[in-house]
Amino acid sequence: MLDVVAEKAHDEARQGEAFAPFAEDPNQYKKKFFIESYGCAMNFADSEIVASILNNDGFGATRNCEEADLIFLNTCSIREKAEQTVRKRLTEFRKLKQAKPGMLVGVLGCMAERLKAKLLEEEKLVDIVVGPDAYRSLPALIEEADGGQKAVNVLLSRDETYADISPIRLNSNGVMAFVSIMRGCNNMCSFCVVPFTRGRERSRDAASIVAECRDLFERGYKEVTLLGQNVDSYYYTADISSNKVVTFADLLEMVALISPDLRVRFSSSHPKDITEDVLQMMAKHENICKCIHLPIQSGSNRVLQLMNRTYTREWYKAKVDRIREVMPDCAITADIIAGFCTETEEDHQDTIEIMEYCKYDFAYMFYYSERPGTLAARRYEDDIPEDIKKRRLAEIVAVQRRLSEGANAADVGKIFKILIEGDSKRSDKDWMGRNTQSKVVVVPKGEGQHKPGDYVIVKVVESTGGTLIGQIIESLKIES
Ligand code: 5AD
Ligand code: SF4
Repeated sequence: MLDVVAEKAHDEARQGEAFAPFAEDPNQYKKKFFIESYGCAMNFADSEIVASILNNDGFGATRNCEEADLIFLNTCSIREKAEQTVRKRLTEFRKLKQAKPGMLVGVLGCMAERLKAKLLEEEKLVDIVVGPDAYRSLPALIEEADGGQKAVNVLLSRDETYADISPIRLNSNGVMAFVSIMRGCNNMCSFCVVPFTRGRERSRDAASIVAECRDLFERGYKEVTLLGQNVDSYYYTADISSNKVVTFADLLEMVALISPDLRVRFSSSHPKDITEDVLQMMAKHENICKCIHLPIQSGSNRVLQLMNRTYTREWYKAKVDRIREVMPDCAITADIIAGFCTETEEDHQDTIEIMEYCKYDFAYMFYYSERPGTLAARRYEDDIPEDIKKRRLAEIVAVQRRLSEGANAADVGKIFKILIEGDSKRSDKDWMGRNTQSKVVVVPKGEGQHKPGDYVIVKVVESTGGTLIGQIIESLKIES
């Protein structure tokens, strides 16, 4: 049961959420498309690029899949479960397609890349298969598919960053947006399918990133999350002749300087790549949020080596110590995998020990799911029985729950600056917002003087499990 909780925690934040954009009036377009996204934030950001490409080609977005001429699923391959969810959804769309001849179904993203044309054979009613680097070819592929051909493009690229495409914000609350700063991944973590589905790492033109963030701010957005598989290895040569290089620390500052009222977040960091410069830059600017997602994966040196993570538990702990030295109030969150190949009870205890040491504010926790083609699948046997994987995951989840509750209880009485995101899930009489550490705080709305996108100063009066409850003690009016 607890493994479900762990997966669900991930689901709620980053996975499995289906969404479709609003168009002003979809009927003004020649045809309508519906897009549903699964997986990481990167995938959600990609769907916004796809929406922009389709829009420019005369397609309007609809939230209603039944009235769509084109249905796209932007898919994830990270664990087997993610792929199963997509397959189930495809069978549902099959029925729709049978009732509406001419409707096209397309699979985008990581599953498209992993399974390629096989997907057309396996899922007979898929018409279009497009990998993460081939979205510019969508209009041509749709035309091919309209002509009755099966359309596939899964070519990976060494330089595609979609830098010049203005994403169409889907399902946005108008307050926060994702901005993709790089694509692909050069790390070869042995469990991970991403290098195979998203290709080589490349960084996007810094000027285009800053321009996109500035435009968002001018349109009222108050928070950008800079996205990449490994943001700390961002490296852009702005001017080849002068060898002028923009590092991730430089980029953070360039975005932070757009306005003190624009919050900057980033995700994800590889512990081996986060630099002292980045920590110093975070400390220097109040609007760079004090939250670092620093996936540990395992606390055992032996397992870390098999995972090819290139750090030890001692090295990782020293990094955590340094973060806390530079920014005592910085939240640290992690990803953890239970039951990787050959993991012993002792290795598992090492993971629990490092969780206790780091006192993570939050963690995404999974049990190992072998992915075909990865280094681990080729080299090691997936030898931990499922019941043991699940039991270890349940123990990890229980430890994290205790740590998160402890961290939240310690926040009672503290004062935070909160960015209001919208109504709280439980009641439209309350606002929900986040502090710089990315912790959710719920506050009574009061006299209606606030709106999403406002900053307020809040005193935490209570903590209930995952949520902090506060009272607004001051409104911060922003000069515009
Ligand atoms: N099995 C389980 N979890 C995985 N992750 C990546 N690959 C796998 C896998 N094969 C987890 C890692 C990563 C997060 C995005 O997903 O913890 O950091
Ligand atoms: Fe899933 Fe990874 Fe692809 Fe994101 S990059 S969609 S997490 S497989």
